Amino acid sequence: MRLFVAFNPPQATLDELASAVAELQRSHDEVRWTRPEAWHLTLAFLGEVAEHRVPELTERLGRAAHRHPAPTLAIGRGGRFDGRVLWMAIDGDREPLARLAASVSAAARRTGIAIEDRAFRPHITLARSRGRESVDLRPLVQALASHQGTPWTASELHLVRSYLGPHPRYETVASWPLAQG
Ligand code: 2AM
Repeated sequence: MRLFVAFNPPQATLDELASAVAELQRSHDEVRWTRPEAWHLTLAFLGEVAEHRVPELTERLGRAAHRHPAPTLAIGRGGRFDGRVLWMAIDGDREPLARLAASVSAAARRTGIAIEDRAFRPHITLARSRGRESVDLRPLVQALASHQGTPWTASELHLVRSYLGPHPRYETVASWPLAQG
């Protein structure tokens, strides 16, 4: 199964972002917008994981979650990965967030999952180019340059299964609270 580890922003945060981008969504259909109910912050993408590894994986992820304090995060300005992905940056406790992401990746590796060793660029994907076409995302990034969302405390970590498709579907497999205070 295809798995990743993520935070789900609270409903108020999703609503706030949805209002902030509503006008842009109406005027830019050259990209495929992701739906608010799918907005999430990925800490580690695990890829295809054999079912027999899931029990040990969930145990290790639970231990990692309990060792880290809940970070305070906020959705910041817009950004892009080339002409493919339009995203919103994550502000706030970025160092603790990066430490948690590293710990989550380490837990997965100890379980025997070979995950890519990529730089952690925390973001929420807002839109993707259609097909293989590259799009000029600069006007959209510019339009979102001064966005600053209300902070929230990310207190629960999720292991999520994704089902691929034009609009990927996500299903929570397990959740853990982070350490208090
Ligand atoms: P993205 O939003 O930038 O595409 C589920 O696919 C989640 O894992 C998404 O948040 C996705 O980030 C992230 N992810 C990270 N690396 C990935 C990869 N190599 N393939 C697919 N998704 C990846």
